[in-house]
Amino acid sequence: MDTSVLQVSDLTKQIKHTQIIKGVSFDIKQGEILGFLGPNGSGKTTTLRMIVGLSKPTSGDVTICGYSLKKDFVKAMSNVGCIIEGPDLYDYMSGYKNLEMLGSMSKGVTKEDIDDAVTLVGMENRIHDKVSVYSMGMKQRIGLAQALIHKPKLLILDEPTNGLDPQGIHEFREIVKNLAREKGISVLISSHLISEVQLMCDRVSIINNGTIIRNASINDVLSTGEVIWTLDDPVKAQSILKTRFNIESSIEAHDLKAIVDVEKLSDINKTLVKSGFELTYVENKKQTLEELFLMLTKKHKI
Ligand SMILES: Nc1ncnc2c1ncn2[C@@H]1O[C@H](COP(=O)(O)OP(=O)(O)OP(=O)(O)O)[C@@H](O)[C@H]1O
Ligand SMILES: [Mg+2]
Repeated sequence: MDTSVLQVSDLTKQIKHTQIIKGVSFDIKQGEILGFLGPNGSGKTTTLRMIVGLSKPTSGDVTICGYSLKKDFVKAMSNVGCIIEGPDLYDYMSGYKNLEMLGSMSKGVTKEDIDDAVTLVGMENRIHDKVSVYSMGMKQRIGLAQALIHKPKLLILDEPTNGLDPQGIHEFREIVKNLAREKGISVLISSHLISEVQLMCDRVSIINNGTIIRNASINDVLSTGEVIWTLDDPVKAQSILKTRFNIESSIEAHDLKAIVDVEKLSDINKTLVKSGFELTYVENKKQTLEELFLMLTKKHKI
């Protein structure tokens, strides 16, 4: 059985003559937190808006808890809670009144559901204060409570920690991790902050220029590094990397360079030696997620 809570399949978006999203695919399993990482203007918000039905894809589809957005929009969306473009709150009302009002507009939301959401975001003590006196972090927590009152299986958050101070970021991160761990909620969270993704997420999808350039677990990404081979025929070795291992590489000053999963390195080296190359030096630079992100995205600066 497919346990994906969210499946994004070959999503594209064309606005006027520009292809902004160029075939984005990824999925999220139950209780998993996926970081949607990309530089400014890479297409994160555009993709998330399509996933929550705020914008129509040019092609492709989104399936949420088995319901296609195209065919079963209402059922699909009943499983989603989101904060996109900041929480929408009335300043002159209390946090609680804001939640009550939203609850009255959604079918089947009880007072208990509202209280549960308030507890989940840790706002019990300030919930009856007016929103106008809330800090940015408190407003963001109320936004999260709004997204949770109908008990969604999937939470979609577009750069939710923008504007929060380090303490606020830490608290928000712990709340989200707890929702996934304790309640089994799946979370899709976009960010341009590598450290945030590294600390919060199980997996990462890196988007650049409207294209997913890496879908992997955080651990796999962290075991990826840049490898430099000094050998006698880099051009021929480059073609072996491509045909045998499907690895793209570049040649710089007669050295061959590629980004490689370090677990595959021993196999690659054996193959090169067996193929008759004279391998004089292999350097394996293990990278942080930040270094990898910068390297993967540097070719397409906006
Ligand atoms: N309505 C629109 N019309 C034309 N271009 C648009 C429209 N919406 C987005 N774009 C373009 O699509 C690209 C992706 O924008 P998007 O807002 O999705 O990026 P992002 O990854 O969310 O960036 P940020 O990190 O700055 O929030 C940008 O080049 C943007 O200018
Ligand atoms: Mg954005």
